[in-house]
Parts: sequence; structure tokens; C-alpha cells
Amino acid sequence: MCGIVGYIGKRDVAPLLLEGLQRLEYRGYDSAGIVITGKAAAGRPGTLKMVKAKGRVRELEAKVPKRFAGTTGIAHTRWATHGAPSDENAHPHMDAENKVAVVHNGIIDNASELRTRLTADGVVFLSETDTEVLTHLIARAQADTLEEKVREALRHVEGTYGIAVLHADFNDRIVVARNGSPVVLGIGEKEMFVASDVAALVAHTRQVVTLDDGEMATLKADDFRTYTTEGSTTTATPTTVEWEAESYDMGGHDTYMHKEISEQADAVDRVLRGRIDDRFSTVHLGGLNLDAREARGVRRIKILGCGTSYHAGQIGAQLIEELARIPADAEPASEFRYRNPVVDPDTLYVAVSQSGETYDVLAAVQELKRKGARVLGVVNVVGSAIAREADGGTYVHAGPEVCVVSTKCFTNTVVAFALLALHLGRIRDLSVADGKRIIDGLRRLPEQISEILAGEDEIKRLAAEYADAKSMMFIGRVRGYPVAREASLKLKEVSYIHAEAYPASELKHGPLALIEPAMPTVAIVPDDDLLEKNRAAMEEIKARSGRILAVAHQVQEKADHTIVVPKNENELDPILMGIPLQLFAYHTALAMGRDIDKPRNLAKSVTVE
Ligand code: M6R
Repeated sequence: MCGIVGYIGKRDVAPLLLEGLQRLEYRGYDSAGIVITGKAAAGRPGTLKMVKAKGRVRELEAKVPKRFAGTTGIAHTRWATHGAPSDENAHPHMDAENKVAVVHNGIIDNASELRTRLTADGVVFLSETDTEVLTHLIARAQADTLEEKVREALRHVEGTYGIAVLHADFNDRIVVARNGSPVVLGIGEKEMFVASDVAALVAHTRQVVTLDDGEMATLKADDFRTYTTEGSTTTATPTTVEWEAESYDMGGHDTYMHKEISEQADAVDRVLRGRIDDRFSTVHLGGLNLDAREARGVRRIKILGCGTSYHAGQIGAQLIEELARIPADAEPASEFRYRNPVVDPDTLYVAVSQSGETYDVLAAVQELKRKGARVLGVVNVVGSAIAREADGGTYVHAGPEVCVVSTKCFTNTVVAFALLALHLGRIRDLSVADGKRIIDGLRRLPEQISEILAGEDEIKRLAAEYADAKSMMFIGRVRGYPVAREASLKLKEVSYIHAEAYPASELKHGPLALIEPAMPTVAIVPDDDLLEKNRAAMEEIKARSGRILAVAHQVQEKADHTIVVPKNENELDPILMGIPLQLFAYHTALAMGRDIDKPRNLAKSVTVE
């Protein structure tokens, strides 16, 4: 989704900002723009110079003139919400006098009402965007300082924003504000950065300050200060980003998706590291902020997430029920928050998110907190909004995930849920022997993942065999069902092949009507107590001449092909069974020539509704 990057210091700003925008490309966008303050003569205001382009950052770069010097600037990658992708709708937006420039992530809900009012006052709009409204409000504000002008403008605005503002008359500063869309300050030596994502900063500084909702900041070359939109000063202590700039690079792979799939053995090793307590056959999750007595009082667990994180939460709910015997279920956060949910004091809520910024999840957490619920976060990005909003939680330590299509983070999130389930189970009724069994299983995962990844060539061959399908069915039962749902999502988002996921038990209640030779089925067939039931479902498909690709612990006679995965403990099998299907989706998309890291219409972090 949209990306912001800004800089103030002594360096030539344009190349810095363009490089920052490139690092944000993974978030998905359709146009880009940059504005810088030209050199100001002593005592005279500077001028703003702007370039915008529909398309990729490289198209913007090609349009930037040779003489585009300056040491302060802001830039943006836009993902269209109000108005089609075009040069005019690209950010930054400036006022008629070219004094104010604004880049904005988020959505101004009352933009059309404000636009009507401003138009009646004689303002001429050059774009269809909601952001331009904000530019004119700032330009027309009567206050004396840029900070007050921005504050005055924001008072009229309803909606979400992460903004960065330049003003020709105040060219020693960048003013930024956050409400619902991430804004991170990067603290350098006599230079300051701002971005919507640390990925754009880490090549220059790892010292960052993440703004809270309702917070603003003024960045000058040699200092920064933070304050609320009401004007009271806030304290901001920089923290160090865990990841080096190289972690955001492709590392010799052709795509981030391939790199991230390949990293999973190490990533799982990382989420386990330092957490296992062999003495009590349990795990330590330091950040939960939930003592044993409180954990015993939990009557129900409700897990909330979107997309892949929701699917990881579904497996998490099963793990919690199996290991801790606490009733648990997962629900899309996007639906939960709109159905006026009954918030029960004995329910523990768990918000799951790779980015920690997904608006639907964040809004659900805020609604829950408002109603007095206890919310844990299972999050990848350290210091993200959901991590900070939650009462406690655990990081999944997957490392930076750049590809829009989530892979390693799914796996690590499920492992993090296994740890949570084990922790809760050992506080309640899970025996020492079962605790040890699960720990041994968890320790086997990295090696088993490497074993699966070593079979990539065979999976690639199978992908080529099924790549002609217009539509595919994914089935599984109980533990296998969320795996089927996630695998179906992977295939459709990266290859654009239509895919349906159903519980195998539901086939005969309707979807069996779709089965014919041109509609292959991927069946998740773990060696557990439902093996025979799964075989019966495959029988039903075969009887209708359907082709079957099974993911199983042993070759399945009824299937046309089987990807055999290593067996772990029954409860942990779903962690491994999804991995070959990530590779299957990847190679299918590759064979079809898809834009693997940036599938059409999708963004990495959905920070708007
Ligand atoms: O950052 P989050 O985990 O909160 O993101 C949630 C979904 O938008 C995300 O998982 C999405 O479904 C991915 N494209 C899946 O690959």
C-alpha cells in the first residue's frame, strides 16, 4: 500500500528519496512522486520542486531533471483509493501557490464534504484525491507556525492518515503526523529521516522512533521533537531496529517469495530460540503479561486476523484446543469489528498480523480495548501499531517479509501459536510427557522444513503439470482444512488461478458438482485419525474423474501424484504440510509469467479499510 519517505540533512536528497521509494516498492503502488525544497537565499523562503509519474519508481526517476538539487524532501508511492492512477493523482499534492506539499497514507473519510466547501471558497482542485483537501486546508490555515497550520487543518479531517508536510516558508523542517497509518522517524547524525516503513530507513540508520496515533513530529536536520495533535510534548526514545539493511535484499534469489520460502528453516529456529524450558517441558513467552493464575482463568480464546494471518490463527485455535483444552476459534478481524461483538471478560483475544499495521486488525483491537478486553498480539514487526496497542503478546521473529504473498511469516506464526498453546497447556492439563513430545516435535521442524525444500525440483515439475488448470479445489479435514485454505489463497493470489478451499467432509454437500477432469484437487492427507475419511473423499473425486495431487505422509494410491512430507506430531503436522504448497504456488505462477512479488491489485500492508 502507499509508502512515504522523507529526509532533511546535508545530503543530496533526490537520490536518497528515490532509493527509499524503491525499498517500499514491495508494498504495492501505482504511481510515485517527489518534492524537494530548493536552496533558499539568505532570509528568503525556499521554493518547492516537484516531479510525479504514473507507474513505477524507475519512471519517476527518469522524469527527475538533472538539476534537482536540495537537501530536504518528501516522496511517496501511491496506491489508488480516490481517483485512478495518474500523474495528477500521484502524491505529493501542492496548493495553488506551490508553498505547501503533502504526502499522505490513509483515507480522509470526509474528503468530499471538505472538497465541496473549499471549492465554494474558490479553491481549484487539480486531482481527484482526498489528500489534496488536506494540502489546501494547511495552505489556508491562519496559524503562524507550520506545526499549528497542520494541527489546524487536521482538526477538520476525519479518517486515517500518516502525513509528511513541506512548506516553502518553513524550509528548515518536515512536519509529520499519524492517525491510523504508520509513521517512523529515523534518527541520524545531523540528519533525520521519516518513512511509513523501516525498510526505507535501515540502509541509513537503525535508530527509530515510531509515532503513536494522535502524535506529530517536527524533524530538523539536527533534532526532532514529538507532540500530540493537541500540542502537548510527548517523550520519544529511539529504539534499535533488529534487522540489517541486507535482510531486505533479495540475497541471490530471483524473487523475494523464493527467498522467503527458502528461509523458513532458519526462521523457525529463530522463533524457538531461547524459549524452550526442558525442565518443566514448557516454553517461556516473556512478553505475554499473563501470569499463571490469569492464564488459568481464561475460559475462551478468540483469534483475529486477516488473510494468511487469519488462516494461521485457525491453526492456532486448533492447537490451543488440542494442547490447552481451552475453547478457541479464529475469525476475520474485518468481520468481527463490524458485528458489535459480545466481549466477554473471561475471553482472551489474540490479534495476529505480520505487519502489525493491518487496519482491520488494529481497529478490532482498539474496539476490544475500548470494551475492556485483554488482547494479546502475535505479530512479526517489532514496535508496530498492533504490537504496541496489545496488552502483551509474542513476536514471531520471521524476519522482514517483503513479498506481498506471505509465506515464512505464516509458518512462524503457526509455530508461535504452538508455543502459546504449549505454554497454556502446561499451565493447565497438558502432561509433562505430552509437553516433552511437543517440544521434541518443535525441535524437529527446522530439519524437516529443509527436507521439504530439498524436494523443490519435483514440486516444480508437478506445478508445470497443473499450471493449465483454470480452477483448482483444495480440501482437508480439521487440521488439514486451514492448510487447504491457506494453500488455496497462495495459489490464487500469486498465479491468479481460481481456487476454492473446502473441508473434505463438505464435498458431497455441494462442491462435488464442480469436480471433472479440468478441475484438479489438492488434498491434504495427514497420517492421523482422519486418514481413512480423507481417502474416502479422494475416492469420491476419482469416481468423478477428478485429478488429485495429495500432500501426505505416505504415497496415496487414489491420488495421481503425492508430495510426501515428513511426519511430525499430529498436532504439528499442519506447520509442515503448507510448505510444499507455497512452492507449488510459486512455481505455478513462475511458469505463467506472473509478477511474483507484486501480484496485481494487492498490497503488502493493508493500512486502510
Ligand atoms: O500484515 P498482516 O498479516 O496483518 O496482513 C494480513 C493480510 O493482508 C495478508 O496476510 C494477506 O492475506 C497476504 N497477501 C497473504 O499472502
